[in-house]
Amino acid sequence: MQNKKRSLTGDRPTGRLHIGHYFGSLQSRVKMQEDDSIERFVMIADVQALTDNFNNPQKVRDNVYQVLLDYLSVGIDPEKTTIFLQSMIPELAELTVYYSNLVTLARLERNPTVKTEIAQKKDLFGESVTYGFLGYPVSQAADITAFEGELVPVGEDQLPLIEQCREIVRKFNSIYGETLKEPKAVLSSNKRIKGLDGNEKMGKSLGNAIYLSDSEEEITKKVMGAVTDPGRIRKDDLGNPDVCMVAYYHGLFSKDEVEKICEECRAGKRGCVDCKKQLAKNIIEALRPIREKRKYYEERPELLEKILKDGTKKAQEIAKETMRKVKESMKLNYFDE
Ligand code: TRP
Repeated sequence: MQNKKRSLTGDRPTGRLHIGHYFGSLQSRVKMQEDDSIERFVMIADVQALTDNFNNPQKVRDNVYQVLLDYLSVGIDPEKTTIFLQSMIPELAELTVYYSNLVTLARLERNPTVKTEIAQKKDLFGESVTYGFLGYPVSQAADITAFEGELVPVGEDQLPLIEQCREIVRKFNSIYGETLKEPKAVLSSNKRIKGLDGNEKMGKSLGNAIYLSDSEEEITKKVMGAVTDPGRIRKDDLGNPDVCMVAYYHGLFSKDEVEKICEECRAGKRGCVDCKKQLAKNIIEALRPIREKRKYYEERPELLEKILKDGTKKAQEIAKETMRKVKESMKLNYFDE
């Protein structure tokens, strides 16, 4: 137990998870469950979700359960991974306050991830961003360090946040003495996946996502609308699968057939409609076990509640212990026995 490494990661519950999340990080989290040298934690980051959804608490609350269902349906196993709720760990807010002295405003404003997000959220923030949103990297540093998370499995977009956490840890340790562990990001081998519309990224805000919970009809409808080679008008025109999103997705979901599919496309021997139908069928089949598992849990709300409660309880104990160490280092250990 002593020399086990901890991993900590999480998601903002602002919507259901899609196949981009699956290839980007969920798959590697499931795989990590086979490694007994790691103690795993996954956090539903509802406090962080509120930083840009403070005006929509019901949305965050509903999505806590959607994300929990997504986790369980892809095979994150509560026996092997502790799943917990951020808002139920008050130590995280407490640590955030102490860490906020260790980072400058200029440094937060320079964080590339935060910068991009602020630009995307002009509707919400106008010309002036909230203190809470600008500071969310500090709160994320609290999340990671509270659990002594040495490994942080995340997508590429999160790297600047992990770097910022490392800086806070070094600063803390240099001022108050060696207390916190420096985390490392663990990137999954799969890069981010493109949208069916040809966008470089699949995202819920981009409207091009296939959700893990989509029905068969929804999947078919989305695939039928996918972008294909624009130069190909008639069925027997020679196609170019390199610029076709359907071919790209066949590469993800029809691995054994993709070579033949591309060959037929180049030779003008394969119509786009049939090609899309075949893809829809393969995606539907690939996601079937996920949909079925989701249904199982959806029908058992008391089990969901128990999983979240038990995981949160376990997480609370660990965060308390870190808090004790931090307060001791900061000479804030008043009234201790
Ligand atoms: N920022 C992450 C996201 O938007 C969610 C998150 C919150 C997180 N706290 C974390 C990820 C700690 C890794 C570690 O998806």
